[in-house]
Amino acid sequence: MPVHSTDKWIVTQSRLMRRVHRFKSLASMTSQTPPAPTAQAAGRYPAGSAAFPHGGLLGIAGLAPHEILFLLDEAEQWVDLNRQPKKRVESLRGLTIINAFFENSTRTLLSFEIAGKRLGADVVNMQAATSSVKKGETLIDTAMTLNAMRADAIVIRHASSGAVRLIAGKVDCPVLNAGDGQHEHPTQGLLDALTIRHAKGTFVGLTVTICGDILHSRVARSNMLALTALGANVRVCAPPALMPADIERMRVTPFHDFDTALKGADVVMMLRLQNERMQGQFIPSPREYRHLYGLSLDRLAKAAPDALVMHPGPMNRGIEIDSNVADLVGRSAITTQVEMGVAIRMACLEVLTRKARAVEGWA
Ligand code: MLT
Repeated sequence: MPVHSTDKWIVTQSRLMRRVHRFKSLASMTSQTPPAPTAQAAGRYPAGSAAFPHGGLLGIAGLAPHEILFLLDEAEQWVDLNRQPKKRVESLRGLTIINAFFENSTRTLLSFEIAGKRLGADVVNMQAATSSVKKGETLIDTAMTLNAMRADAIVIRHASSGAVRLIAGKVDCPVLNAGDGQHEHPTQGLLDALTIRHAKGTFVGLTVTICGDILHSRVARSNMLALTALGANVRVCAPPALMPADIERMRVTPFHDFDTALKGADVVMMLRLQNERMQGQFIPSPREYRHLYGLSLDRLAKAAPDALVMHPGPMNRGIEIDSNVADLVGRSAITTQVEMGVAIRMACLEVLTRKARAVEGWA
């Protein structure tokens, strides 16, 4: 597989990370105290705010590989904290986080809510069904209203690609994208990367096969961006109608035949058909889709013997993934993805509010 210019750097970073990660795993087994972030201490990032010089998180696009690694490293302390009986710190005490969800969500909304609360913030959820958007208010007016309430961070999910960027341009506080249309879902990309690192220890040289509705999936897009930046070889597999025309620009290898795409894969990530974003018929029938693109135990045997199975949820069991694969102990990382999601969202909220909290080096 072709290697990219940043790979040499990433290989070194990744080796270092594996060592740090092993040390941290050992440390977390022997101690109840969450380890301090090792990021700057190890000198692997620029100091202070230069480690993550962004005012928000709108996508993985635009992040440097070391900035992605920085967020993953920051999340490790929260993984450890979340495994302890007492899961709350007061880092964000006095801050208000608004979760403005204009599109339905269960796990992402809950995950951001838990993340904010575990950091000690006041968290308010605004759901579109009960908001003035239903009364005809424009998105910009809603944004101005949220801004006037002096939120310290706003987490936004919206059905339109680009809506989150529009709001981010109108408010004073950091904005986090919790999924915008078919554009990006950056915290999902980060939590998937963290899940892979926990299982495999590295990204460099790993083959990750992503299969499903690549055309409409923001999860696919954020994962392609994150995993290729970190040095993985990414294969994407979909029926021709669900594969973007210019997919090679994402530095991934496209396949239409799932069995070929699975050969030797270290990670198999299955995606849901995004029916809500489809206008017209994209697949002949769910039955045929399952036959050609569903992950069964027989199919999984074509991947590496220890291949990790992932799915961002919600799953359609019996369509893109069989139940006995989704629940395969030791191989399915689907619940680990949910666990890593809380830690990643804590890391993002904590890092993005450092300026407002006048954290040394970040003010
Ligand atoms: C998303 O918000 O995109 C989900 O996490 C994945 C899905 O809906 O299939």
